[in-house]
Amino acid sequence: MSTICIVGGSGYVGLAYAVGLAELGHDVVGLDVAADRVAALNRGDSPLHEPGLTELLVRNLEAGRVRFTTDYAAAVPGASFVFLCVGTPSLSNGEADMRQVRSAAASIGEHLVPNETAIVVNKSTMPIGSADLVTQIVAEHAAAGASFHVVTNPEFLREGSAIADIFQPDRIVLGADDRTAAEAVADLYAPLGAPVLITDRRSAEMVKYAANAFLATKISFINEVAGVCERLGADVTTVAEGMGLDPRIGSRFLEAGLGFGGSCFPKDVGALAHMADAAGLHPGLLRAVLEINADTRRRFVGRAETLLGGLDGRTVAIWGLAFKQDTDDLRESPSLGIIAMLHERGATVRAHDPVAMPKAAPLLPGVELCPDPYAAATGADAVLLVTPWREYIGIDLQRVAEAMRGDVLLDGRNILDPADVAAAGLRHAGVGRGMSPNQLSIRRGVEQTRH
Ligand SMILES: NC(=O)c1ccc[n+]([C@@H]2O[C@H](COP(=O)([O-])OP(=O)(O)OC[C@H]3O[C@@H](n4cnc5c(N)ncnc54)[C@H](O)[C@@H]3O)[C@@H](O)[C@H]2O)c1
Repeated sequence: MSTICIVGGSGYVGLAYAVGLAELGHDVVGLDVAADRVAALNRGDSPLHEPGLTELLVRNLEAGRVRFTTDYAAAVPGASFVFLCVGTPSLSNGEADMRQVRSAAASIGEHLVPNETAIVVNKSTMPIGSADLVTQIVAEHAAAGASFHVVTNPEFLREGSAIADIFQPDRIVLGADDRTAAEAVADLYAPLGAPVLITDRRSAEMVKYAANAFLATKISFINEVAGVCERLGADVTTVAEGMGLDPRIGSRFLEAGLGFGGSCFPKDVGALAHMADAAGLHPGLLRAVLEINADTRRRFVGRAETLLGGLDGRTVAIWGLAFKQDTDDLRESPSLGIIAMLHERGATVRAHDPVAMPKAAPLLPGVELCPDPYAAATGADAVLLVTPWREYIGIDLQRVAEAMRGDVLLDGRNILDPADVAAAGLRHAGVGRGMSPNQLSIRRGVEQTRH
């Protein structure tokens, strides 16, 4: 069993790995600069919502296999592996912001111990060439005689199923200059039985960006098709089913909705486009993927406007604030942009989310956060379903209809049965499910008024 330091150990990826590697029997220290979250974690309180995480945290704290600290001197010396899991958010031009990586790499270097060899595992999603950058920064700060390797090990877990994904990965990708170092990291994952791809560091870095960009492209593709379906009277859910039966296409990531959000797809597509641009290329497809993503939200708000005959003075209920179900993460969540557009057009917004409301409150001034979806729907002219939480699927639509002032239910994730919605006396609209000729002519009227 190995001694492992996880830098960024209270973040979504770092914390999941800290408890996951402890569960595999390793001796783990989660290191993070966020002192409040570190203190909470040492008490067994998870600062973020992730199914199964708290159980693993408590069990491994009690077993003494994991602990958390803000002190590099208490975490790096003696660690055989140092996992770099800090954030790489977007700058305004799409470029990855590497400040957390640079700072963490410097601190790791300062705390390496002479005559010991550590393997720094780059798990954060970092631009192509970052393993070289991390190597250089660590080397600049390391004492004479300290030895280290940098192995790129991109992460593919999904928030909402992070723990399951850690224990059942599809693949382990390792990029290294030194085969022995890559194999040492591969040994950590050996109990999971996943296929291992060992390659050079730049290719490993690129695998992550290319995989996310491909999935985002699939989502934007079906959302563009959804827009056409909506205007021409086809149903995108049936179209996707018909497409997905072709094994060359597959049915996954062909769900029309409100586009991709979260901390990865938008920033990784943007960062890849930026890298391509900087290399003198023209990343037209990647730019279109981002543009279509923004468009899905504008179209959704436009449809609400059409169905309500205008948004000014209307009350709109939002169901779901997190960027997807089973997480409290609001980064790049469609709900934020949609609520901003509703406010700009004069609507009053009430909202509900089963877990994300404490994190949403400071981001959404002027939005009344409600204890349940029925309370949010009370007095609303329209309900907009934004996040596909399970509890919205089983909702009592009759009770919703009775609580509302109006009768519009706009399902941004196509998870409700239109017949059930209609049976409750509500007007249903989904994404990519054709508008009636009447709605189309109203929509054209709204657009002409704007131009
Ligand atoms: N969230 C995901 O689903 C996911 C999936 C795959 C890959 N990734 C990638 O993993 C990386 C981390 O993502 P995340 O969502 O966990 O981010 P996060 O913001 O939740 O976590 C980053 C953590 O690093 C800490 N930190 C920042 N600077 C530090 C420093 N100098 N020393 C120690 N700790 C420091 C922060 O306090 C924070 O807790 C990103 O590059 C992301 O693209 C994320």
